[in-house]
Amino acid sequence: IHVTFIAPDGQQTTIEAEEDSTLMQAAVAHDVDGIVGECGGAMMCATCHCHIDAAWQDRTGGPSSDEVEMLEGAAAEVDDRSRLSCQIRLTPALDGLVVHLPEEQM
Ligand code: FES
Repeated sequence: IHVTFIAPDGQQTTIEAEEDSTLMQAAVAHDVDGIVGECGGAMMCATCHCHIDAAWQDRTGGPSSDEVEMLEGAAAEVDDRSRLSCQIRLTPALDGLVVHLPEEQM
């Protein structure tokens, strides 16, 4: 599953992620700067916050209500494209996904 991360400065990194891993796990495994994932995916930290590219929002769907609550603790500005990347499972339907990294996670 190919995923492209776009940093705040515009720099793009494309990784090839394992199918069925989460977006957070894939970013951490490939040393993508800007996704921390401190709690390991337990929805307890919000350091895996990211913004889904508008073109992909239909396919990723929106956050659950628990996720919305946790996003309130995110360090960077949260908008209607914000998701916790540990809550996004990379299925083949998400091949080519584009994700924008926030300014800060802590
Ligand atoms: Fe902690 Fe996603 S890794 S909330």
